[in-house]
Amino acid sequence: MDDWQILRQECLQCQNCGLAETRTNVVFGDGCETAEIFLVGEGPGQSEDEQGVPFVGRAGQLLDDMLEMIGLDRTKVYIGNTVKCRPPQNRDPLNVEMAACRGWLDRQMALLRPKILVCLGRIAAKELIKDDFRITAEHGRWFTRNGVQMMAIYHPSALLRDPMKRPETFEDLKGLQAKIRELCPETKI
Ligand code: URA
Repeated sequence: MDDWQILRQECLQCQNCGLAETRTNVVFGDGCETAEIFLVGEGPGQSEDEQGVPFVGRAGQLLDDMLEMIGLDRTKVYIGNTVKCRPPQNRDPLNVEMAACRGWLDRQMALLRPKILVCLGRIAAKELIKDDFRITAEHGRWFTRNGVQMMAIYHPSALLRDPMKRPETFEDLKGLQAKIRELCPETKI
C-alpha cells in the first residue's frame, strides 16, 4: 500500500523527464497530508527549486495572504504542482513533462482523497479539469471530476502582474469558502 513517506522518497529520485537534469530540488508538496482541500499549481519557480517547497516565493506569499482571507493556512490544505521540478527560465511545462509527472499527482490524489481541488491558474486547470479550460471565462466555476469538486482561480503570479484581476479572485475565494463550509466538516473556517 502507498503511503506519503514512500511516495515522497520515490518522487525525490524521479528521472522521468528532462527537468531532472536542471532541477536543484524536487518540489514534492507541502501542507496537511489529511487535508480535505488540495491546491494544485503549475510548477516550481526559482525559490521553490532552491528550497524544495511549493509556493515560497512572491507568488507564494500572495497565496498565503489569499488563504488567510478565507480562514485557511498550510495546516488546513495540501499544496502541490502539476510538475514537481522547475522548468528552466520558468517556461510553461511541456505536455511530455506533465505526462511524465502525472503519476506522482495521481498518487498524491489517491492518498489525500480531497473533497475539493483548487487549480491555481490555467495550466493546472487544463490538466485537471478539461483541456480547453478558459481561465478568464471559467475561473470560479465548479466542475466534478472523479467525484471531486474542482474549480480554478487565477494563478497568484497573474494577480501580481495584473492587480485588476484581484476583485474577481476575491469573489472566487468567497465561493471556495462557502463550498468548504458545505463539504468539508473537518475544516473549520
Ligand atoms: N508557481 C507555481 O505554480 N508553483 C509553485 O510552487 C510556485 C510558483
